[in-house]
Amino acid sequence: MKTLSHRTLNIAPSLTVAIDTLAKQLLAEGKDIVSLGAGEPDLDTPENVCKAGIQAILDKELRYTAPTGILKLREAVCAKLKRDNNLSYSPEQIIMTSGAKHAVFNSLAVLINPGDEILIPSPYWVTYPELVQWMGGTPVFIKASAKNQFKISPTDLEKAITPKTKAIIFNNPCNPTGAVYSKNELDALTQIITKQDLYCISDEVYEHFVYDGDFTSIASLKGMQERTILINGVSKSHSMTGWRLGYKAAPIEIAKLITKIQSQSIHHPSNIAQYAAIEALNNLDFVHSMKNAFLKRRSYMIHRLRTIPNIQIDTPPGAFYLFASVDKLYGKQSPSGHTISNSSDFCKYLLEEEGLAIVPGLAFGDDSCVRFSYAASEETLQKACDRFEKGVLNLKDK
Ligand SMILES: Cc1ncc(COP(=O)(O)O)c(C=O)c1O
Repeated sequence: MKTLSHRTLNIAPSLTVAIDTLAKQLLAEGKDIVSLGAGEPDLDTPENVCKAGIQAILDKELRYTAPTGILKLREAVCAKLKRDNNLSYSPEQIIMTSGAKHAVFNSLAVLINPGDEILIPSPYWVTYPELVQWMGGTPVFIKASAKNQFKISPTDLEKAITPKTKAIIFNNPCNPTGAVYSKNELDALTQIITKQDLYCISDEVYEHFVYDGDFTSIASLKGMQERTILINGVSKSHSMTGWRLGYKAAPIEIAKLITKIQSQSIHHPSNIAQYAAIEALNNLDFVHSMKNAFLKRRSYMIHRLRTIPNIQIDTPPGAFYLFASVDKLYGKQSPSGHTISNSSDFCKYLLEEEGLAIVPGLAFGDDSCVRFSYAASEETLQKACDRFEKGVLNLKDK
């Protein structure tokens, strides 16, 4: 047989999706597994949103829509961006996608020519580097560390720029670190981005999960809206992960190119999900109550993890993840005689010997850490902390 696509063969599958799938499979087989692996709120989609979806079916809204999505929804997105971010867009600049992940995919497809360098602050969401490579670009990582609250500085940014740099992918609040940039920090970065004439993909799916400080969209800063593809969605804000509905707001010429891609590929996301999303975007009560619940869960997790020896964790101001440093455990041995040499060994050990699924930091570009999602019930979090603590205490020096 002839060789399949090198481009596709050369990218890695999503490790977070793989771990979630494995945990779900083990659970289905009757194994006792606690999973904090997925970036998925545990609450159900709110009832008013479900009802809007059901009503769309009853109203027979079941045909093709425009590739950009239905006008009423694009108008609702414009109203949301004005209300929450003080950004003015026209419906022609809004494109509905099958989740925010698909919006990242489309955005990179319109930006990248072979050899273009795309800046990615690291730790990063697993998907960015793989999609950049898939589109023929080169990911260039800008390392941020715990001592700077996992945020990059203007100097870090400036150093990473070369004549080949085309764009930066900015994820604020950040998955996996929970870092949130202040308006002043963003201002300093945008001066470089505008001076160097870079595009910006701003992934804002955790916008509503900022517990300490305020959220500022980078697109709202001077000179940024015309160079930014703003990405958001309802997966996280309204617990709608399975509905697959995201969106982007972009300069009109970019929006036209993305529309062309959609018209030749998925055409548009589900019509039913689009009607449900109108209801979601117009009502933030659910998000506010979920955020309050997450705040309590974050406190619980931080409190528990800080009592465990060799684990280091600062309180992250946003998203619903904890990115804890575990490298002091490297070199130790598990009860079954396996040496823990890196974050993957440690997570494998926890899954196999303690029935706990969390994600190795390696997936996000930092092998010294592991990621916990705290978008889970209090009971699940308690069990997860018990298992984690036992797993850590059971590791012995060689
Ligand atoms: C930073 C980030 N962007 C995008 C997504 C994808 O969201 P969606 O379900 O809308 O595709 C995720 C999901 O984990 C994420 O963490």
